[in-house]
Amino acid sequence: MPSPLIVALDTAALDQALHWAGLVAPYAGFIKLGLEFFCANGPAGIAQFTQPVFLDLKLHDIPTTISGAVRAICAAPPALLTVHASGGPHMLEAARNAAEAACPEGRMRTRLLAVTVLTSLSDATLAECGVPGGATAQVLRLAQMALNAGADGLVCSGHEVAMLRDAFGPAPLLVVPGIRPQGSATADQARVMTPQHAMAAGASHIVVGRPITQAPDPAVAAAEILDMVT
Ligand code: C5P
Repeated sequence: MPSPLIVALDTAALDQALHWAGLVAPYAGFIKLGLEFFCANGPAGIAQFTQPVFLDLKLHDIPTTISGAVRAICAAPPALLTVHASGGPHMLEAARNAAEAACPEGRMRTRLLAVTVLTSLSDATLAECGVPGGATAQVLRLAQMALNAGADGLVCSGHEVAMLRDAFGPAPLLVVPGIRPQGSATADQARVMTPQHAMAAGASHIVVGRPITQAPDPAVAAAEILDMVT
């Protein structure tokens, strides 16, 4: 079975990211690179990695611009790419069409993950943005729309994963960050869940960053977390 563990390599330094990627290679199904890394290193940086890459750019723009961006990124195709569900169905369809059209012969198409409501937004902040009714209802609404428009899955918090699995069945990828093994530091994550609980609730993948990259031995930390969920 492929590993459900995604290791977040949150750094702008290519050398550091490659070093961590090498250490966790036997345990990680994917490595996650974010905006910080991409702004510093671009597609050429992504192409340095031998394992599947989850590129977390959270794209959000008009359909034509998204289409061009996804085509450009897919020259060195990441395995997974995030887009904001709130860009709407036409933007999501444009992303899906571009990912299909741009996928080089013989390579697996980039899978699109829709971000519904950022976990940094409270119900009160959402209301300030013109979305009354709370985050849970908005997550469900956006998730339904995004999956209908061609998203392959969703990024969600551990607290929404069971609801989304119940609503949409076994097919969608449900990728869950904010994972903390029992007893490890939460740092700036407020709504955390253990690896075991997130997988039991229906996650297809868990994203773990600092509990691995800041551990005394990242390879041992990754092995231990993978052990908890397989
Ligand atoms: O170090 P830590 O395990 O908290 O890293 C989690 C990773 O997942 C980071 O790259 C963070 O940006 C990302 N993420 C998150 N919460 C979300 C979406 C993404 O923590 N809702």
